[in-house]
Amino acid sequence: MFQPRIAAATEKADWQRYLVAENWSRFTPRDHDTWNRLYARQVAHLEGKVVSPFFTGLRRLDMQAPMIPKLKMLSGKLEAITGWRLVSVEGIVPDDAFFAMLADRVFPIGNFIRDGQHLDYLEEPDCFHDIFGHVPLLAYQPVARLMEALGHLGVAACAAGHGETISRLYWHTIEFGLAQENGQTRILGAGLASSFGEATHALEGDVPRPRFTVDHAADTAYRNDTFQPLYFVSDSLEAATEQLESLSIEGLVKLAA
Ligand SMILES: [Fe+2]
Repeated sequence: MFQPRIAAATEKADWQRYLVAENWSRFTPRDHDTWNRLYARQVAHLEGKVVSPFFTGLRRLDMQAPMIPKLKMLSGKLEAITGWRLVSVEGIVPDDAFFAMLADRVFPIGNFIRDGQHLDYLEEPDCFHDIFGHVPLLAYQPVARLMEALGHLGVAACAAGHGETISRLYWHTIEFGLAQENGQTRILGAGLASSFGEATHALEGDVPRPRFTVDHAADTAYRNDTFQPLYFVSDSLEAATEQLESLSIEGLVKLAA
């Protein structure tokens, strides 16, 4: 999910209240066609451009069925691999509830898909962003561990009034991060993996690509209304997960100071 809003929390949020029925049968043939076109276009587009565990995850989860995946089935496959579960929500979940979900190894999926006439227009993250962008790497153990760790850290950060800092770290890695792999800069973030235009812009556009450090990312604002002004490049996917996993709430509060 994109998470532009910051919520102050005093305790772990009751995330269950945001769950809704998947209503998969409500998807029309046109919706499934939109999924198929997005899926085929993005798989071809990302070949050789995304960190390797992404395609490994896609294959292991067998997402290639010519329809929007049924969440229960996909969630069952993912849970067997890394223990993560997928749940259906109507749209953006407030930050405190979102991080509480992550802490419980639960990832929210928007129960709608964009208008097929405008494949690149996305007002809110839809099921293509949430499923195609995020779920493949949730099947990769280092990312599965990191996402839970970010959940715990996010819950504590929101409670301490530092939701913006954890959101920046999430945004600059999990959503829009890049990472080195075999001497190449590749896509790491779900916001890039699920976007045709921004994937190219992040890798080839005239835009700064500083080396990722927790300090620099925590100090850098993000945009949720247009392409990012810069893209952080981690030394590797695993290096990014190790750096973020080692961050404590005390360390995060110091970063925010
Ligand atoms: Fe997202």
